[in-house]
Amino acid sequence: MRISLQDASELLSGGQVVGVPTETVYGLAASLSHPEAIKRVFSLKGRPAKNPLIIHLAEAREILDFVDTLPPGYADLAEAFWPGPMTLVLPVRLEKVSEIVRAQLPTAAFRVPAHPITNNLLKLTGPLVMPSANLSGKPSSTCCEHVENDFGKAFPVLDGGICNKGLESTILFFQENEWVVVRQGALAPEHFSKVLGYVPKIQGSASETVPLCPGQLFRHYAPRAKLQLSGQPSEGTVVVGFSDRVYPSGCRVLSLGNSNDPETAAHRLYSILRQLDEEDVKTAWVDMEFGDEGVWLTLKERLQKAACSS
Ligand code: TXA
Ligand code: MG
Repeated sequence: MRISLQDASELLSGGQVVGVPTETVYGLAASLSHPEAIKRVFSLKGRPAKNPLIIHLAEAREILDFVDTLPPGYADLAEAFWPGPMTLVLPVRLEKVSEIVRAQLPTAAFRVPAHPITNNLLKLTGPLVMPSANLSGKPSSTCCEHVENDFGKAFPVLDGGICNKGLESTILFFQENEWVVVRQGALAPEHFSKVLGYVPKIQGSASETVPLCPGQLFRHYAPRAKLQLSGQPSEGTVVVGFSDRVYPSGCRVLSLGNSNDPETAAHRLYSILRQLDEEDVKTAWVDMEFGDEGVWLTLKERLQKAACSS
């Protein structure tokens, strides 16, 4: 059910859960000061308690309410990339952020989103926790219909149109004297070098390193359809591919756009993964022949996770 900004603000302040747009993906929002609403976010999504939530703020200076010391480079990152699709994991004063939000870690994740509607909402409500508005493990939502498909037509959603980025925020953490990317996202690592003076490394997969947060180990972004990421498509297969390529005859192509346009591919990815399920497609072949830098790397990571069946 589409609701107004005023209604969303009142529902959130009264302890309800609401679907909220951001420039990355839609969020399932609850007020940071309503523990029951936060618990409901976990139960609605079927989200494991070990997967912490991001705290969304109207302005970066609100972080000072939660944090004592800020890592080197924090101010430059905040100045350059907020509001925007960057999330920073920071050590917090434990009494200021409830254990359920941070999954008992000594840190919490913060973001100042850039969507004007979200920003106006946050000014009215104060800090909101918002995981992506999808059932746990499933593709994220990039428009109102996606949220309604997952949580029901009667579920209250603030309509902000189609998300501009289509991929979640990039998450950074300051570890052993440098910032590292702990989740790839809408901002490629290279973007951060202009303020940090170096390109932050991407924290390796779970097999190489201990993840910063257990949530990174869970299944993510996966449709019911089996995704084939290698080999060749056979005749008549559903292909997730590009509009400037030719595939075997009879293949139905769900287009990520042009193969030199990562922003459009990012914009369309979750809609296409959801379309596979809506059409009850059993198997789809994905064209993984694309760039190996910038946002293409995030797309590759999302598709690899989406293809994991466990
Ligand atoms: O773009 C986004 O970030 C979207 C929109 C709604 O803002 N939100 C989002 O939230 O993607 P979610 O819950 O789907 O992903 C949050 C991730 C967790 O899975 C975890 O990996 C990481 O943020 N995270 C949160 N708190 C953390 C912490 N204290 N330490 C390490 N990672 C943390
Ligand atoms: Mg998510």
